[in-house]
Amino acid sequence: MVEPNEGHVRRLTEAYVREFQSSAISHARSLEVLVDGISHGARTYAPFPLRIVQAQGAWITDTAGHRLLDYWQGHYANILGHNPPEVTSFLIESLQHASGLQTGLPEEQEIEYCELLAKATGSERVRLTTSGTLATMYALMIARAHTGRKVVVKVGGGWHGANPLALKGVAHNESGYDSVDSAGVSPTADDEIIITCFNDVEALERVFASQGDRIAAFIFEPCPSVAGFIPASRAYMETARRLTYHYGASLILDEVITGFRYCASGVQRLYGIQADISTYGKIIGGGMPIAAVTGRDDLLSLTSEHAHPRVWFNGGTYSAHPLSLTGGLSMLRHLVSNEQTVYEVLARRGRALRQGIERVMAERGILARCTADGNEIVQGGSLSSVYFPKQADLQPQGPDDLNDPRLCDVQMRETVLKLGLLLHGVNVVHGLGALSMAHGDREIAATCEAFDRLAEEIQDSR
Ligand SMILES: Cc1ncc(COP(=O)(O)O)c(C=O)c1O
Repeated sequence: MVEPNEGHVRRLTEAYVREFQSSAISHARSLEVLVDGISHGARTYAPFPLRIVQAQGAWITDTAGHRLLDYWQGHYANILGHNPPEVTSFLIESLQHASGLQTGLPEEQEIEYCELLAKATGSERVRLTTSGTLATMYALMIARAHTGRKVVVKVGGGWHGANPLALKGVAHNESGYDSVDSAGVSPTADDEIIITCFNDVEALERVFASQGDRIAAFIFEPCPSVAGFIPASRAYMETARRLTYHYGASLILDEVITGFRYCASGVQRLYGIQADISTYGKIIGGGMPIAAVTGRDDLLSLTSEHAHPRVWFNGGTYSAHPLSLTGGLSMLRHLVSNEQTVYEVLARRGRALRQGIERVMAERGILARCTADGNEIVQGGSLSSVYFPKQADLQPQGPDDLNDPRLCDVQMRETVLKLGLLLHGVNVVHGLGALSMAHGDREIAATCEAFDRLAEEIQDSR
């Protein structure tokens, strides 16, 4: 099938190859040693990804010295921008005082870090690990041990890392989100992972009514990245809480992206909901690798060496790494003490950016919208995605709408925006990404200008 933007994509690809020759050379070299040339699937795209050498604030610099505005911001981890002094100053100081690299011993700062995280998130217990993937895997193991059941319910498109207990329904295919995504997972995964549709209250009710006594956990992201961060409706969140409680399953909120993104806590605080178990990552490390499983004492205590049954949440050479604790602590302290300003500023700038993009696209006759304007609970913030609805009245509720090529021009979002905006000095992921505190008026204006120039080209290519 010929995609509608085929000719434009070809021209963009040729221009990209010419402009980013230096990254092409690095890519060829990387392919000699790295599978696909990278260490994370989200970091590559055709024809090859930019290789960068520096990142500061809102900006990244590639191997040829091009400076680009960045909306990926460390997989959405860098809420203060790249390498912010609020974090790096503490890391430097730490290394200058014989602390920082691995010790493998309980660190004093681990206690303060966990106290702060527990207090901010209203959690009874915390256990640290190194990645969001491990955090969600342990969370599901805890829920399974607690309930003595196996079935995990997750939403189509939901991403909880490459966690084998939730690797179904991540990729969109012709029939939606319904297949096991990876080879090598347990052959029972298909039966043990049930996919439901995000923000669809009736669908969730049907799943629990038919399978409730088999369900160990319902896990979901309150604002799924694959849904352009559209927030869960109040009704959906309340239904999730009510049904899991009623059927004795655990409610796991995966706050790896949303944690400390909309307030200095989990976004669940804004809903007035407390999950049984929550997972955090990204922002809570301040740019260093750390992740946490938090929640009820009786559930987290199943990871104790005295517990029966016991969840073997017990490894991790680099768990609670000293520099990760230092980076994370400086970030958490900053966000907690500046909560009144940070989130208000991000919301204001996010709104200006979304409105600016929609305006320049409309002025060129292109129907483009930004997601995540917010709802009555989560105000539109710093995360958003640009999409191209085929009908002006489309009101996407989640990934099923945004990633269905019958409803939206997905290629325009994923390929035309990606390459076209890079050529105008802006790096977006899935249509936009994350604004940070380092994205000020100048950066927002430059972004809108880049969208405008690309919009003009799209207009010309039609
Ligand atoms: C919601 C969510 N959960 C879990 C993960 C996995 O985290 P990590 O990449 O740190 O393993 C991610 C990563 O993007 C995520 O977005």
